Amino acid sequence: MHPVPTNEKNKIILALDVPGAEEARDLIRRVGARVGLYKVGLQLFTRCGPDIVKEIRDAGAGVFLDLKFFDIPNTVRHAVESAVALGAEMLTVHLGGGPGMLAAAAQAAQGSDTLVLGVTVLTSWDDATLAAVGCHGSVEDQVVRLARLGGECGIRGLVCSPREITPLRETLGASPILVTPGIRPAWAGADDQKRMLAPAEAVAAGANYLVIGRPITAHADPAAAAQRILDELS
Ligand code: C5P
Repeated sequence: MHPVPTNEKNKIILALDVPGAEEARDLIRRVGARVGLYKVGLQLFTRCGPDIVKEIRDAGAGVFLDLKFFDIPNTVRHAVESAVALGAEMLTVHLGGGPGMLAAAAQAAQGSDTLVLGVTVLTSWDDATLAAVGCHGSVEDQVVRLARLGGECGIRGLVCSPREITPLRETLGASPILVTPGIRPAWAGADDQKRMLAPAEAVAAGANYLVIGRPITAHADPAAAAQRILDELS
């Protein structure tokens, strides 16, 4: 793997949604420093484990470990400690895990360079899904409620859909770090994303980081696609 310096000014987080280490290495080799961080999610982590995180970090790049922890506070505290020890620059917990779990997660990362992000409501959910698990009201109200709870418990960043950037900024101001998937440049297909914004639109709305997968990973030339997005952002 070629060395890939972490570039904190680069807002692009590349989702490594690939089956294994070989595919991940190939993408990283091709895209290189055109992205700021690499997102390792459930698929790749379940196959390759912490070794893939170490490998990416050893190559000089940063990792967003997107495992969406949701468990009792003691278990999540120790899981966050493990992710911090691995050197993840960002990790995720479900805000629905409640105050005790969120405070435990925030405390476990305190004093480290790891940013704990709270996942509000998954974008695959709608008002009917919320009602099915006993939450009555709109997705937007639930997103804002959970984001507030996260802030009260020391969670400084949020994963949200592009549609939620404006209500979150209106209610919580500039301080939370917003990380947004559902990004589609005008020249890319929608795939299964339904509520999308173009990269520059999401940044203009207040996103701090953009999680981008298939517009880069499924492109015939991933490096060119990443460069085109970077150019659109600058
Ligand atoms: O390929 P695409 O750009 O749609 O990938 C988006 C990435 O963001 C995927 O890794 C997906 O799991 C993740 N994600 C999402 N919607 C959320 C949370 C995460 O699309 N609400």
